[in-house]
Amino acid sequence: MTQPDLSSIDAATIAINQRMNKFDGHEQVWLFGYGSLIYKADFPYIERRAASIEGWTRRFWQGSHDHRGTPLAPGRVVTLVPQAGAVCDGMAYLITPEVFAHLDHREKNGYLRLATDITFDDGSKVEGLVYIANEENAAFLGAASEFDIARQIARSSGPSGPNSDYLLHLASALRELGKADPHVFAIEQHLAQLRETPATDPTP
Ligand code: BEZ
Repeated sequence: MTQPDLSSIDAATIAINQRMNKFDGHEQVWLFGYGSLIYKADFPYIERRAASIEGWTRRFWQGSHDHRGTPLAPGRVVTLVPQAGAVCDGMAYLITPEVFAHLDHREKNGYLRLATDITFDDGSKVEGLVYIANEENAAFLGAASEFDIARQIARSSGPSGPNSDYLLHLASALRELGKADPHVFAIEQHLAQLRETPATDPTP
């Protein structure tokens, strides 16, 4: 089977992000992280604070062909989906604009920068940025049952490692922050059950 060519999509995502000029001229910008950014900050930052954003809910609806899966067998990673009244907990980083160049390349798989209000856990607010992969991007997989998502995560792996590591790190980072996410924790629970009762191989 031929590999789908996703490089032009990646290049388009980077180009759109580089045209996003909302914070041009700012020396420092707050970035809200709700996925791997909660537990892995492989970039320099000035400050890091637990925070949340309103009107969005975290979902394992984005396909990952470049980090936690492959073009032929994509894994699933989180994106944010609009939901009235929802609050998404995560971690905010105060960074310099140069760091976006690094993140635009790391997260080139359909994630676009969006301006958002960020609320720190002490109740104070700032305007900042968040990366969101919406349903129009080519890697978007969309809704599935939490059991089916766990099954896909259980069998997926990519250049950044097993998809299950991503899920387990995210769930434990949320717990360390004292935050609950029923969607993430339900998938984690299904994954644990799948590991206890692996599918039996009918061949002798
Ligand atoms: C995040 O953790 O917020 C994140 C990481 C990668 C892509 C998009 C968002």
